[in-house]
Parts: sequence; structure tokens; C-alpha cells
Amino acid sequence: MKISAIKGFSDVLPVESETWQFIEERAREIFARYNFSEIRIPVLEKTELFSRSLGETTDIVEKEMYTFADQDAKGSFLTLRPEGTAGVVRAYNEAELYKVEPVRKLFYLGPMFRRERPQKGRLRQFYQIGAEVLGRRDPFVDAELLLLLSDFFAAVGLDGLTLELNSLGCVQCRPHYRQALLTFLKERETKLCANCRRRIDRNPLRALDCKEEGCVKVTLEAPSILELLCGACRDHFETVQRLLRETHMDYKLNPRMVRGLDYYCGTTFEWTSARLGSQNAVAAGGRYDGLVQDLGGPSIPGVGFAIGMERIVLLSGMRETNRAPRPSLYLAWVGAAARAWAFPVVHRLRRAGMAVEMEGEERSLKSQMRRADKLEAKLVLIVGEEELRAGKGIIRDMDRKEQFEVSLDRIEEDLTQRLNPARDI
Ligand code: HAM
Repeated sequence: MKISAIKGFSDVLPVESETWQFIEERAREIFARYNFSEIRIPVLEKTELFSRSLGETTDIVEKEMYTFADQDAKGSFLTLRPEGTAGVVRAYNEAELYKVEPVRKLFYLGPMFRRERPQKGRLRQFYQIGAEVLGRRDPFVDAELLLLLSDFFAAVGLDGLTLELNSLGCVQCRPHYRQALLTFLKERETKLCANCRRRIDRNPLRALDCKEEGCVKVTLEAPSILELLCGACRDHFETVQRLLRETHMDYKLNPRMVRGLDYYCGTTFEWTSARLGSQNAVAAGGRYDGLVQDLGGPSIPGVGFAIGMERIVLLSGMRETNRAPRPSLYLAWVGAAARAWAFPVVHRLRRAGMAVEMEGEERSLKSQMRRADKLEAKLVLIVGEEELRAGKGIIRDMDRKEQFEVSLDRIEEDLTQRLNPARDI
């Protein structure tokens, strides 16, 4: 019986996994440059962590979480994480990281789970590369995160992305905006979709995020949050913009961008690509100054982002530069005695750091040479019974198309030198 994967859950197969590694390596390099440390958090958390952090009336919490009863604690529920911020803040509070040093720059890589309708660029298990800075209230760190992202996009060869910026205000000014928006929406309530009407009183901002045609039309004229920011929020946001201008980073203001999660306040942002269709956000994030305290910690601000890995892979796949790893050496053997000699030698060469391949079953030399060619091996070492008796093998340099004899008892040193000519110097 053939069993298939679950809808929206996909495999990353070779050669695509090479692209994943390339992207992850670039991300790690950039995080190191900006002084971030890795944090690894669980995939499964208590459900209330997410309902409390992301907000009861968000799409994620209302309908997209993979939640099930905890068999070990009656009446409790567990959820596969739909995002990483809540878990990072939980871990920061639980380990009381702020006691030793409140300012933490953390990054994470891993799968997230949302029961969304799968389509191109939207999966039910998807990977994020995320970053969270805890303990910094200043606008410099907001700008720093945006610069980090732009360095990352450059490092993975992505261009043509658009940065959209907004500020969602703070506990002082957001209630005024919320009220202004609520009044505006109430006057047009009949034109909104059933979902927005249902949650209009509890969370009117969600209507700005709704994709239903009627809601999009109605909210085009909605009041802009940027006009109702308090002095502190306006100063903060203006400094972020000034820093971006000074570092020559293009951006567009989008006062309708409210983001799908309730923990945000102040600066929020999304990077989009016109080449991705409707699922066009490649990275997004913003400030969440109240979350650490909401989750039982001290009053410590936070700001961060998450990059959607599959969307980055989709965009880099369009460049078609992916390739399988190339072995340094292919060891072609002929006859059982040569195989017995080759097996431990291959093991030692791999231990010495070389990428080596050999067959386990007898194949003609011609077929082995074809395979070495297909794998794009740099060198082929040919050993048959005659070579073993003479203590001399044949090396074929596949790039230069040259062939020469080598002594088998010095084979490791010989190959190390050939593959690393710099060591001669
Ligand atoms: P988010 O906007 O929900 O934010 O997700 C961030 C990114 O993850 C999106 O821009 C997108 O690239 C990718 N993504 C989201 N859902 C899917 C999906 N179903 N399939 C494929 N990719 C997807 C957050 O998750 C916040 N935790 C970001 C953050 C960190 N804010 C502050 N700190």
C-alpha cells in the first residue's frame, strides 16, 4: 500500500535540500554578524500560550491551529506552534534570561503549523527563519532588523523585494484609533463579511486585514492609524524612517497593514515579492512591547521578524542555480579483492574530510566511469586486482581529462594534496 503525505505537508527532496542548506547557512552567517544567538524551542506548546499571545479573535487562533487534548492532563490542550515568537518569549520568561542580561538577540529556524488552505507558497507545515530582540525599546534596533533582512536577501541573491512599513501605535494611542475605526465600520456594517461583523466589537482592526471583496472596498476609506499616533509613537516611527533613508533603504508606508497577530504595537513591516502571486510576503514582523509582561514576565519590550523559508526557496528556485553536492573522489573498483581494499580506504578518506563515493555491488568499469561522470566527481581512483598486486592505482582527473599512476600505500596523503593544492605552499 502506498501512503501519501498529508495535504499541505511537503517533503524537501534533493536537489532542493541543497538550496535550503545554502539559505540556512547564509542566515546563520548574517545572524552572527549582527550578534544573534540561536534558541531552539519546542514544536508543541500549551494551547493557551498561543491564544493569549496571538489573540483569541485572530484567524490563526480561531481556525488554523493544530490542537489536541493532552492525554496527561485532563482538560488541557496542546498545540503545534503556528509561529515562533510566543515560544521564544515563554522560554525567555521561564529561564528568566532577563535576570542575567535583559537584552537578548535570538534567532531560530524550524517548522510551524497552520491549517490554512494550501496553495503555491502556502503550506500547513512551513519553515520560518525568525529573529527576536528582547529588551530594546529604541528605534535603532527596528532599523537594524530591517537592515539585517536586506543583507540576508542580498546574500541569498534575491532582489526586487518591496518593504512596507506601518506603526500600530501603543496602549496610549491605539484605543483612539480603534474607536475611530469602529465608528467608521459600524456605519458600514452591512457591507462587511459575516466574519468581520462577528468580531467587529472585539477586534475591529481585523477588518483591514480581511481579503473579502466587500471588506476591502469598505476599508479603503478607513481612517489611517498614522494620523492618530501619539507623540512618542510618531517620534519613534519617524526615527525608524530617517535611519532607513540614511542607509538608502527604500520603503513604502502602508497604514492598512495591521498584521494577522494581536501582539503587535508600534513598528510593523512586511517584505513582499511581486513574483509570488497572492502569497507574496517573504518576511514580516514588528514590535510587541507588551508580550513579555502579558506572558508573566517583567515589562520588557520586544521586536522581531520571521522569514518564510518556502517562499525564499521558490524565489531562488527561479534562478535555477541549484546543484547536487559534488564528490571529490569516486573510487572505481574491479574484483572482490579491490572492493575489500577500497571499503576501509574510503572510510579513512571520508574521515579525513573528503567527499567520496564507491559502489557496493560489482559493476563494469565503464558503468562506474559513467556514474562518476554523472555525479561530477573531480577525481576517479581506479583499482583492480592488477593494481593491487603492483601497489599502484590509476587516478583520472575528470575536469582536466588526464590520467596518471599513484602509489596505493600513500594514497591518503596523495589525494589530500591533489584535492587541496593550497596545502603544498
Ligand atoms: P507571519 O506574518 O504570520 O509572522 O509569518 C511570517 C512569514 O512566514 C510570512 O511572511 C510568510 O513568508 C511565512 N508564512 C506564514 N504562513 C505561511 C504558510 N502557511 N505557508 C508558508 N509560509 C508562511 C509571524 O509568524 C511572526 N511570528 C513574525 C514575528 C516575529 N513578529 C515578531 N517576531
